[in-house]
Amino acid sequence: MRGKTRPEANESNGRGRPDLRAARSAGPGNSRTRSRQPKEEGIAPLKLTLSAVIIILITALVFVFGSNLKTSFGAKQRTRSQVSTSKHLSHPWPSFRSTCENTGFASFKTHLKPATDPSANHNANYWAFQTGRGIFSVPAISAFGQILIGSADRKFYALDELTGKVLWKITTGEIIDSAAAIHGENIIFASGDGHVYNASIHDGTIHWKFAAHHQEGTADEHEGLTCGEETFITAHGGTSTWFEGQVQISPIDGRVYIGNDDYRLYSIHANGSEAYNFYPGPLPYGTIWSGPAITRSGSVIGSSMNGKYFKLDKNGKCIWFHEEMYSISSGPAVEADLKLVFLGSWNGVMRAVNHTNGHTVWTFSAGDQIYGGVAVDAARRCIYFGSQDGVFYAVNSLTGKSVWRYRVNYPIRTSPALALDAVYFGAANGMIYALKPDTGDLIWSFDTTEDPDHREINASPALGHTSVVFGSEDGRIISIPYRYCLEAKTRKDPRCHTQTSEIDAVGMSDGRNLYYLYPGGIIANDVPDGFTTSGVWHIRLLIVSDNKPRVAHVLQATAELSPPTNGLTIEYLSTSGSVLITPRGFLASDTQYNLTVTMFDNSMTSTKRLFTFRTAANKLVPMFPGMINTTRLTSATTLHIYNLKPSYPPSWISLNQIGFDSVNLLAAIIHVISSNDTSTDYLVWIAAGLLEQDASIVLDPTTPTLAPGILSIHPDGTTFELWSQFSVITGGPPIPMTGFSVASHFDVESGMFGTPSAPSWMSWSSWCGDSISSLIGAIQTNMCSTRGRIVTVGAARGRVYASSVSEKPRGWKVSKAAVRSAGWLGTEYVIEVTVSGGVGARVPVFGVVLFDEVRRVPVYLDYKAVMRVEVDVDVGQAQIAVSLANAMWKVGGGEGDLVRVIVMCDMYPLFNEVLKVDA
Ligand SMILES: *[C@@H]1O[C@H](CO)[C@@H](O)[C@H](O)[C@H]1NC(C)=O
Ligand SMILES: *[C@@H]1O[C@H](CO)[C@@H](O)[C@H](O)[C@H]1NC(C)=O
Ligand SMILES: *[C@@H]1O[C@H](CO)[C@@H](O)[C@H](O)[C@H]1NC(C)=O
Ligand SMILES: *[C@@H]1O[C@H](CO)[C@@H](O)[C@H](O)[C@H]1NC(C)=O
Ligand SMILES: *[C@@H]1O[C@H](CO)[C@@H](O)[C@H](O)[C@H]1NC(C)=O
Ligand SMILES: *[C@@H]1O[C@H](CO)[C@@H](O)[C@H](O)[C@H]1NC(C)=O
Repeated sequence: MRGKTRPEANESNGRGRPDLRAARSAGPGNSRTRSRQPKEEGIAPLKLTLSAVIIILITALVFVFGSNLKTSFGAKQRTRSQVSTSKHLSHPWPSFRSTCENTGFASFKTHLKPATDPSANHNANYWAFQTGRGIFSVPAISAFGQILIGSADRKFYALDELTGKVLWKITTGEIIDSAAAIHGENIIFASGDGHVYNASIHDGTIHWKFAAHHQEGTADEHEGLTCGEETFITAHGGTSTWFEGQVQISPIDGRVYIGNDDYRLYSIHANGSEAYNFYPGPLPYGTIWSGPAITRSGSVIGSSMNGKYFKLDKNGKCIWFHEEMYSISSGPAVEADLKLVFLGSWNGVMRAVNHTNGHTVWTFSAGDQIYGGVAVDAARRCIYFGSQDGVFYAVNSLTGKSVWRYRVNYPIRTSPALALDAVYFGAANGMIYALKPDTGDLIWSFDTTEDPDHREINASPALGHTSVVFGSEDGRIISIPYRYCLEAKTRKDPRCHTQTSEIDAVGMSDGRNLYYLYPGGIIANDVPDGFTTSGVWHIRLLIVSDNKPRVAHVLQATAELSPPTNGLTIEYLSTSGSVLITPRGFLASDTQYNLTVTMFDNSMTSTKRLFTFRTAANKLVPMFPGMINTTRLTSATTLHIYNLKPSYPPSWISLNQIGFDSVNLLAAIIHVISSNDTSTDYLVWIAAGLLEQDASIVLDPTTPTLAPGILSIHPDGTTFELWSQFSVITGGPPIPMTGFSVASHFDVESGMFGTPSAPSWMSWSSWCGDSISSLIGAIQTNMCSTRGRIVTVGAARGRVYASSVSEKPRGWKVSKAAVRSAGWLGTEYVIEVTVSGGVGARVPVFGVVLFDEVRRVPVYLDYKAVMRVEVDVDVGQAQIAVSLANAMWKVGGGEGDLVRVIVMCDMYPLFNEVLKVDA
């Protein structure tokens, strides 16, 4: 297709490499390193170094004479022929960490041009492009001025670097949270749909698509290459096919490296066929979220979520393999001169290991988990990284000693981007920071917050020709010109700050104090007035000494509310030194409250604090007037709950943009349980829906999430609480959400709940040792609290959702429903239901929900596991059988044999009756 560019690209190398075929198969765009790569080992390093110097020089010149740049990089101004005659394609930020060695480094200056320099490019504008969902991947930025990035809205975008206009886009089958890599004039990106795509960066034409080994939901049976012997565990991969790793491309042979949730690091040839796959080991979470570093000799240094780190030769043969206890989510970064590799893990340890053998050379402890990667500053012998303790660190790369640190006080999960004169990173407070690499002094910061509920920057910045570019949790791709907060014209923008003292200083002073945390994780001095009557308080103990925060382990906490409610329950959150205080029942509307909290921590000190606030004045309008009628004949009132957003523990936060942001829970109100002066309780049926292209939601026939729950609505109609327990799959193993609850204020006018002014609270907790793999997982991710629980808190949004999914299905009728005891000595109950009359009708997702009439509670079961559904489309009949062997005690048992059986067709209750067990 672009054959004509090849000879020119080749010619431009001036070497007349005879191996044209090799150059061809590797693609035209890669001419810069590919066709320069001689077979003779001895010569290669010199030539590569020379070419690197030339590239750096060209890059520097381009930036010095920035006025040329203005006209040359704009994609529109630049034609194909100009492109093909360019000597080298110098992409400012070709991949997640910019370089193959994951250094996060771009060798140009970003603040080079003072305002007085006439050549300075003052034309770059701030812009933000809104995608459909959160962004957790990093743009690749091409020499042609394209921003190439995927969103959780499933689309992969090419935007114009100057304007943010869409040049082209590709819709994939799942969310994209993996960063792409540019290879010549092609872009390689991966999706949660289990595919890697190779497309032209010019128009998005797809050259090839590579599929992960297996079908979603079944274990990968392919044996992967491993290090050492797998003793008792076979090399089976995970059941998910999501590509969550970052794309990396070898400069040596153009091979694509990409990690998948099926516990595989794939190596893919330039023709789209598999070279090999590496298996880092199984339990519990051998998924690979990082991108490997490729060294100058083509070997591959990778890491995986089960704490393994390893070096492979280019054929996947193991050179060394080490492991530690805790998850490693970031890719190793290599400093070639020092022969060191840096990697941070979820217990807060940054580690430098010997490139040759993987042995640890030094370690450095941050105050909390290290989520992102490292920027390597070879000139200053320094590395930079952030931690969830809210500190950005500069550490000497030779010694591991601290050089400087910059506190922002909000979790930092981004990987920094380093230029010659500034280091950039984003934080959970929605701010992007530019610091001086020498001193850690602030150059500028910019507050990107538009929606306080969804403000975080967890995606890492990339450095373009004129701007720093990054994605945010609210789904925007944002481009801030490097000098935007410095130029006279724009620096007055209130989002800009150039003095640290201007930036929100909550919790920055030394000492110990208690703070209130918003659902989004932002800390505040006080509980805000207008506090939602369904609210819970997330209170954090922050201990700071010598300007260094320390994570407190809260051993005991007490809380007192005045005026009192029915009581308070206190949950201890895992690693974050905070507690969740939940009032039993709702707070009174428009009332002044005092909340006194005392926490006793592992330094044997107690800290006490009084919070005063006023609750919101609720509008006494009944919730969804007329809608909560469980005997409605044509449809069931259904809530759609989305934007699940855990804010604590910090390590869950990445789930905001990746999995949980794409979870769509539907909760149909199907039966009245009880009612009194304080609330009415309803039985709900919860299922996970799939968002269609047209924004409608259908039930996922393979959903593992089918569960009953209780919806408790306050008589004033404006607040509710929902409880349930179920598992959610977001890629990787199921995440148990026992004790799941959403409490919210219902905004009658918008039909929404969970607006920024009236946030809805979401929380869930599970026992760390629910299963052996969850126990190991909890330990590896460092999330298990001192009480053996993982407690999570955050926010959610929702609305009343009226659609065909909760309408009475056409044709289908329950023609038989019975419960009988079965099994050996009657140790089992079987509920048998026949639904018929559905000839030619759409087949809904059938479900049977059981309600214990004696205890007046839903029967919590793994419904997916105990239910068997057989549909005969030809006769329009479905047989549903639910077998309860071990959960029998819950249904009747010794206390009676009455069970209410409700048959669900999608979200509509087609049948609702108390059945007596046939003896
Ligand atoms: C992408 O596909 C093109 C066209 O087949 C090929 O030339 C190029 O080498 C491929 N790139 C990679 C990294 O596989
Ligand atoms: C793809 O390229 C590799 C390496 O050059 C080669 O071994 C393999 O046979 C090729 N596969 C196909 C399907 O062309
Ligand atoms: C790395 O290991 C090699 C081989 O054992 C050794 O020669 C070298 O000194 C080590 N480097 C460091 C920095 O420890
Ligand atoms: C809250 O505390 C203040 C100060 O101690 C006190 O004056 C006020 O009466 C208290 N209010 C309530 C509702 O307890
Ligand atoms: C609920 O709906 C049914 C059927 O549409 C109707 O007969 C009944 O009166 C409704 N009940 C209430 C409380 O609105
Ligand atoms: C009724 O009131 C009691 C406390 O008085 C409470 O525990 C219960 O949950 C309330 N709601 C319902 C629907 O029974």
